[in-house]
Amino acid sequence: MSRFTAVAPSNIAFIKYWGTRDEERTLPYNPSISMTLSRCVSRCTVELLPDGAADEVLLAEGSSPAPAPPAFSEAVLRHVRRLAAWAGSGAGFRVAARNSFPTGAGLASSASGFAALTLAVLGALGRQVGPRELSVLARRSGSGSAARSVLGGYVQWPAEGAGEEGYAEALAEAGHWDLRNVVAVVDASPKQVSSRQGHRLAPSSPYFEERLRRLPDRLERVRRAIRERDLEELGPVVEEEAIDLHLIAMSSRPPIFYWRPGTLAVLEAARQLRSEGLRAWATIDAGPNVHLICPPEDEEQVAARVGALPAVESVIRDGVGEGPVESSEHLF
Ligand code: PMV
Repeated sequence: MSRFTAVAPSNIAFIKYWGTRDEERTLPYNPSISMTLSRCVSRCTVELLPDGAADEVLLAEGSSPAPAPPAFSEAVLRHVRRLAAWAGSGAGFRVAARNSFPTGAGLASSASGFAALTLAVLGALGRQVGPRELSVLARRSGSGSAARSVLGGYVQWPAEGAGEEGYAEALAEAGHWDLRNVVAVVDASPKQVSSRQGHRLAPSSPYFEERLRRLPDRLERVRRAIRERDLEELGPVVEEEAIDLHLIAMSSRPPIFYWRPGTLAVLEAARQLRSEGLRAWATIDAGPNVHLICPPEDEEQVAARVGALPAVESVIRDGVGEGPVESSEHLF
């Protein structure tokens, strides 16, 4: 039977998606802008089974694939069934997945995971779609950030003019600007509150509207910084934006605290590094781990300095990436 493997990258948002305006269709209150990564990836193999055969979901984290936990399988199969219905297919599916980085710890594993799953299901079904439709299908998984992970480089979702279709579009290719992302992992365990829950609660924060008011200017500054490869312009906006997301999370009702003591230690280290002339600005997704955005020439020192902090468990060094690819290395 037909088997297809896709490898899709994670991404780190410079302007965050935080708050879902339409949960049924996964449409956000505001456009977000991210950098697609290169080394933090999800690999997904999908095999078509005969019509009506029982679906199967495997996690390929050890030496051989093993049945996935029920919550993971359910989320995967919901999206598989959605894609099968879209394609008019009655086939069964065997799915295996593996991440190159910690899952569910605010490192956007749902973005890369659902982007890879979307590509692998379409590949196994022999269906080809354009980038806009691919982005929309990935978003239908319920992970809005997956809509950005089907593209490489610097990506905005929803794109200018996408309207209710809500697809993502690249603002610049990866080759346009070589930026690095040093991730200081202070806690690799799965987060307690999902981003889905965070999106639901976001409008209950008294600061939610205020951030939306500031966003048009922030988005424009980030787009300009990317266009002009201006890290001194980009860095402060990105850091301010990340703090705002967490301000909103912490003041939602009920509140959500993603930060750990190590998060603050790394934020302080970023300020210290800048005072010494290094260029590194922090951003944090829905988790405790801190992503330091820096230029290639400062990456080594930034990684060494944050890696030496007692609160930092490990450091992942990544950078801007080209987007998803098909692979002949299947998981089963
Ligand atoms: O795509 P989701 O539903 O996992 O939400 C992503 C939320 C953030 O990572 C915090 C922000 C973003 O834009 O990636």
